[in-house]
Amino acid sequence: MPSFSLLMLLIPTLGLLLLLGTVTAAGGAFDGNFYKNFEIVWGDGRARVLNHGKVLTLSLDQDSGSSIRSKNEYLFGRFDMQIKLVPGNSAGTVTSFYLSSLGSNHDEVDFEFLGNLSGDPYTLHTNIFSNGGGGREQQFQLWFDPTADFHTYSIIWTPNSIILSVDETPIREFRNLEKGGVPYANSQPMRLYASLWNAEYWATRGGAVRTNWTYAPFTASYRKFEVDACVWSSGKSSCKSNSTSFGSTSSDGDGAGDFLYTEESDFFVQESIKWVQTHYMIYNYCTDWKKYPQGIPYECFVAQSRYNGVVNS
Ligand SMILES: *[C@@H]1O[C@H](CO)[C@@H](O)[C@H](O)[C@H]1NC(C)=O
Ligand SMILES: *[C@@H]1O[C@H](CO)[C@@H](O)[C@H](O)[C@H]1NC(C)=O
Ligand SMILES: *[C@@H]1O[C@H](CO)[C@@H](O)[C@H](O)[C@H]1NC(C)=O
Repeated sequence: MPSFSLLMLLIPTLGLLLLLGTVTAAGGAFDGNFYKNFEIVWGDGRARVLNHGKVLTLSLDQDSGSSIRSKNEYLFGRFDMQIKLVPGNSAGTVTSFYLSSLGSNHDEVDFEFLGNLSGDPYTLHTNIFSNGGGGREQQFQLWFDPTADFHTYSIIWTPNSIILSVDETPIREFRNLEKGGVPYANSQPMRLYASLWNAEYWATRGGAVRTNWTYAPFTASYRKFEVDACVWSSGKSSCKSNSTSFGSTSSDGDGAGDFLYTEESDFFVQESIKWVQTHYMIYNYCTDWKKYPQGIPYECFVAQSRYNGVVNS
């Protein structure tokens, strides 16, 4: 069951309870085991699996951070992870959860949590790369203390769109606009990664506040990752259905695709994004006129028109 999000408490008039039924995580989903489904990329003993594979802790000290990645590669799916961030003074640290393919033309979808001094808010930094091109940063503050408890961070990746959500509340969407000349992540399989690393030269107040190693080791915890996705192996997808049928039906019996937000819940996605962007967004590349003096990227115009209710997919 998806948990209640603050959004639903704040704007019940939207009838979101009805729409909740369209957001499912059933079908081919499984509750992951960190032993079975992941491997350590770096950091050796700093990545620790506990409770028979149910919990992962990543830590960072002055010598190294740590990182793990999924053994499987995926092409489309829903990926949920519960994370409890480094508490107290976490300035200079970055805790991440992301999908990425390999190579210079890689695709990538990022959740990066930029630490802060005790009592100062974390920044949720998101980015989306397609065909090697990134620079699509959007930053948010959260409507809760992400160090006090576990919260669910999700990537919902279909042939039509990539949605990032926090506790079932969509915070951003990147549509497939290949027809408009914007590359989209739909041909390279990606792995799921989690990492904790030192980024003191830019993470906190742009690098003005450095990591205070007195507080090391810094530790973040992960649990309950759920994957409902198409596994890519030897050039083949585990999903029977072809990508074009994704996104319109919730279940075609192939065990994947049940993770999708259906077309009719696009209203929910847009309203949610509007709420988050109005109240919690602190940076948006789409409004960074210094970065794009010649005009903002095409996907920003489309996102803006959807945001304004002029649906134009
Ligand atoms: C840290 O806190 C300061 C002061 O509230 C804030 O300006 C900044 O955005 C916060 N986040 C980071 C990552 O610096
Ligand atoms: C690091 O934290 C310790 C303990 O609170 C403090 O005494 C020290 O001044 C801090 N170092 C820096 C560089 O802020
Ligand atoms: C889906 O269909 C397209 C167009 O017919 C085809 O090019 C593609 O290889 C198919 N993908 C899969 C995973 O079967």
